Amino acid sequence: MTLYYDRKLPALFTREEIARRVSELGAEINAHYAKSITGEETLLVVGVLNGAFVFMADLVRTLTVPLEVDFIRLSSYQDNLSSATKVVMLKDLERDVAGRHVLVVEDIADCGLTLNWLLNYLKSRGPASVRLAVAVNKKGRREFEVALDYVAFEIENGFLVGYGLDAARRYREFPAIYSLDGQN
Ligand code: IMP
Ligand code: MG
Repeated sequence: MTLYYDRKLPALFTREEIARRVSELGAEINAHYAKSITGEETLLVVGVLNGAFVFMADLVRTLTVPLEVDFIRLSSYQDNLSSATKVVMLKDLERDVAGRHVLVVEDIADCGLTLNWLLNYLKSRGPASVRLAVAVNKKGRREFEVALDYVAFEIENGFLVGYGLDAARRYREFPAIYSLDGQN
């Protein structure tokens, strides 16, 4: 099945709504880290490739707290033997997270597997703190516990594209967020 998304269709979340929410989140993040990042310290902002690249680019430009960026690439796949969904790391971080304040930026939390895995991975490396920011919290299919600190938009269900989100690797460049399956 090929779903065709057209950026001229009404968006679920428009460019303007996204820009407004991103600056609101930026203000919350600045206020939070203003107290904990002191002296020569910097916030380590970790983007989850590929989906987070658009949200990350917008979000870091609203931040005034000193920061560094790093990226990790994760992919989930179905293990045929156990039929469980597993997370595989395709690219590791380049910075050491030990003792650092880390802000993870992800496009969407769905069943929660990816962020749950990433949180455990980061925590095993001894960061000072880890917080999570997502563009979209899709709440209806959550299976793994994830505490989201910053959420731009919430939906129950449905498949979204645009603003970094893809369908079969397409549509990441659409500047707004679209849903075509009518669940929103
Ligand atoms: P989770 O591990 O189920 O939380 O899934 C997270 C990953 O699934 C995200 O990083 C996305 O890459 C992908 N994903 C989940 N829902 C959507 C969607 O509605 N549109 C595009 N990608 C999605
Ligand atoms: Mg993704």
